[in-house]
Amino acid sequence: MPSPRSASPQLQNALDEVAQAVNLTIERLLPETELPEAPLYEAMRHGTLGGGKRLRPFLCMESAFLFNVPSSRARRVAAALEFVHCYSLIHDDLPAMDDASLRRGHPTVHKKYDEATAILAGDALLTLAFEVLADTETHPDPHVRCELITALAHASGGHGMVGGQMLDLIAEKEEENFDVGEISRLQRMKTGKLMAFACEAGAILGKASDPQRKALCNYAHDLGLAFQVTDDILDVEADPQDTGKDTGKDEDAGKATFVSTLGKDAARARAEMIIGQAKRHLKIFEGREKMLAQLADYVLQRRA
Ligand code: IPE
Ligand code: IPE
Ligand code: MG
Ligand code: MG
Ligand code: MG
Repeated sequence: MPSPRSASPQLQNALDEVAQAVNLTIERLLPETELPEAPLYEAMRHGTLGGGKRLRPFLCMESAFLFNVPSSRARRVAAALEFVHCYSLIHDDLPAMDDASLRRGHPTVHKKYDEATAILAGDALLTLAFEVLADTETHPDPHVRCELITALAHASGGHGMVGGQMLDLIAEKEEENFDVGEISRLQRMKTGKLMAFACEAGAILGKASDPQRKALCNYAHDLGLAFQVTDDILDVEADPQDTGKDTGKDEDAGKATFVSTLGKDAARARAEMIIGQAKRHLKIFEGREKMLAQLADYVLQRRA
């Protein structure tokens, strides 16, 4: 599993703890089966349990911590969100999209199984995420559950992650010339929205005030944008042994990124500026936001 080696020891411990907890929850929600549809479950487990930095679960757990939410509830939401993220990766790697063979240091789901199984595994993970959120174990208050479901649907759908993925494909076309503003929007949708849900979910579970919610959402949107910028930089300069995934794919595909538009140095400067802004949104939490602030710094330094 690629490990985010540039995190401080304190952040690394916190990340490891969340990863362990969310892995156990995913194991419990996605047990092996001996039913005839077992290959589907194997593929779902392959796509969710084989590593990953678990940053979105971390954001969800840390945001919930700000409002003293019981961690058993936050863990289920974190797992549901990770299911959506993993589905997005399984589909992102398909030949019709980024055509990738390596993910989290392992063969991608369609390489290990086949394309149809990968499509179905993604579909089933997406559906399972909503089943988990709708369960009373996630929260006893039906209004809270409905709010979580609506927020995840918005973040994942046509004006969220999936819409961003569509723009990502449109921008590959030669006749398209996305400017920096359009690339920002694309990246905020394909990556920022799910990260924003991670933080918003903590606020929903904790019935946070509007200013607190807004602060977290703004932080996460910026974090997500900067995270995608550093992902694009890593695609150019990192080693697949560190990232656990194919590199050099963006240039080959002619993707529109901050790196292709501004160049690597200006893209990095832009990411630094956005991360400074992200941290400023957290001031409202008066000291309880330390881990979230450290995560923002890590996004700039990460090598995986
Ligand atoms: C990869 O996300 C997809 C992007 C949005 C750039 P991560 O870098 O968080 O992937 P994992 O979960 O750690 O594998
Ligand atoms: C994908 O962005 C974002 C998703 C919504 C899955 P990338 O295509 O850059 O992600 P990687 O580099 O394959 O992880
Ligand atoms: Mg992609
Ligand atoms: Mg990709
Ligand atoms: Mg990438």
